Amino acid sequence: MCGIVAYIGQKKAYPILIKGLSRLEYRGYDSAGVALQNESGVNLYKKKGKVADLVAFTEGKDTSGRVGMGHTRWATHGKPDDINAHPHSGNEGRLLLVHNGIIENYSVIKSALQKTNGHVFSSETDTEVLVHLIEEIQKTDNLPLEDAVRKALVKVHGAYAIVVMDRNEPGKLVAARKSSPLLIGIGDKEFLVASDATPIVEHTKNVVYLNDEEVATITMEDGLVIKNLKNETSSHTVHSVELEIEQLEKGGYDYFMLKEIFEQPVTIAECMRGRMNADEGWVRLGGMEEHLKRMLNAQRMIILGCGTSWHAGMIAEYLFEDLARLPVEVEYASEFRYRNPVVREQDVVLAISQSGETADTFAALELARERGALTYGIVNVVGSSIARLTHSGSYIHVGPEIGVASTKAFTGQVTMLTMMALILGYERGYLPKSEYQELVQELSLLPSKVERLLSTCQKQVEYIAGELKDATNALYLGRGYNFPVALEGALKLKEISYIHAEGYPAAEMKHGPIALIDEHMPVFVIATNKSAYEKVVSNIQEVKARKGVVIAIVTEGDTTIKSIADHTIEIPDTREPFTPLLSVIPLQLLAYHAAVLRGCNVDQPRNLAKSVTVE
Ligand code: G6P
Repeated sequence: MCGIVAYIGQKKAYPILIKGLSRLEYRGYDSAGVALQNESGVNLYKKKGKVADLVAFTEGKDTSGRVGMGHTRWATHGKPDDINAHPHSGNEGRLLLVHNGIIENYSVIKSALQKTNGHVFSSETDTEVLVHLIEEIQKTDNLPLEDAVRKALVKVHGAYAIVVMDRNEPGKLVAARKSSPLLIGIGDKEFLVASDATPIVEHTKNVVYLNDEEVATITMEDGLVIKNLKNETSSHTVHSVELEIEQLEKGGYDYFMLKEIFEQPVTIAECMRGRMNADEGWVRLGGMEEHLKRMLNAQRMIILGCGTSWHAGMIAEYLFEDLARLPVEVEYASEFRYRNPVVREQDVVLAISQSGETADTFAALELARERGALTYGIVNVVGSSIARLTHSGSYIHVGPEIGVASTKAFTGQVTMLTMMALILGYERGYLPKSEYQELVQELSLLPSKVERLLSTCQKQVEYIAGELKDATNALYLGRGYNFPVALEGALKLKEISYIHAEGYPAAEMKHGPIALIDEHMPVFVIATNKSAYEKVVSNIQEVKARKGVVIAIVTEGDTTIKSIADHTIEIPDTREPFTPLLSVIPLQLLAYHAAVLRGCNVDQPRNLAKSVTVE
């Protein structure tokens, strides 16, 4: 949520900032801005809209300078417009600041600065208050920028990742973070600061992850100096990021989302790589081995996540209870943290997060840690805050996911959770060895089954999307393992095509949603369950009796449902616990095609952001 990039070095900063902002645009695209420092001062450009609008705005203007910073905004305080766009400056215009996060006590600070010090504010943002505060401290105490930043940060509550520049201290960037990510790339006579590694990797693979409440001062003379808020110097470790540029490009696809959907045969295999051997019949996860005893003896598992990651957690509930007989509770991270939950030392708390930065998931995890539970992360972004906070964990290794609607991260998460369930089931003695090995064997076939499914269903899904693109509502029904898939299918459709959609357990339809069904209502029924097949067939009949349009996801060769439903999409047969990895694929594709046909920006749906670093 909000993207920050800053540069100091020998090259022209502007193109580096613009490219970096484009890479970070998935974090927010309400407005964009840059501040560029050159020999004659600082040029500030900011514009409502996308990075492309900023580029058009700077056309023909002075974009010189080897020091600068940029920001792409997801609006929290104040509407998306030119004035609320970052960078912001103080009363005297001397300081410039970009910010990701929320300053929670901004209104108290603002009133004090207005009343006592005569500050005048031009925007509605919390960010502007912070830069005014830094300016006031700097002026009153006559401090260098980094000291003023440090003293100001002691006074603020909330979350921040910031970069600050001072017109009177050219050639210096000051960066700091608390609960919002910030990385510093160390290149050859240059430094980059960014919200994630994507703007950095083109220039250097060497990065330092700033910790909470650390302030970094970067100059060409003294390089990188990091101190904490008590003014003590912090040592820093330089990490190498494994990220290739090609992973950040669309690779011939119209949208990242489509590329990511089609990457899934590879990304699911990547997630399994080195962790599973079908011939020898085993699954191993390094992160679990370290804590196996505690995980096996856990009294229950609490799973935390938001959005699509929460849906993956719902599937895990079915997997862990079904295969490993381990009691599971799945919680929205945002609810968990505010309801004084019971967490015991014998609990294992699993956090699922693609970005590893979701503020609510992070905070919920902190609470679980404080209360003594073992915490385990299922994360995609290596080195992210959640990955670093947990006692242990497993990366899903699906590569950068850029489309705001999550696809390959979801199947990566479900793959990882399935592997965990197999380990727990076997080690806890609920899965006999032969069954365990058969399941491992079958799971290893999933990448090729997903590949076959993608090649067979694409045209048909596109056709169905064309038939349904003008619908205003849609219902998604599923049972058992396919209930969370129904939720995920509905989420995909609503977030990128803006068609209102609801996911329901198929049997619950009778308790409300059935009232909505008429000939205009598309009803997606995920009907691959072997265990409740007849029941799902009855649910389809109930929809048809009310003239609903049924699109059924069925197992290859199913003729019964084909004869009742308006459309059927066949998926390869697999063991029931693994069906979500297949049944979700046509639903992802359908949402994609519906959104394209409705003229929506698939990768950057309105009001959404990929990484939600505010509560
Ligand atoms: C946002 C994204 C979703 C994502 C959710 C949780 O809402 O748009 O795609 O599922 O955050 O993000 P996380 O990074 O924690 O998985």
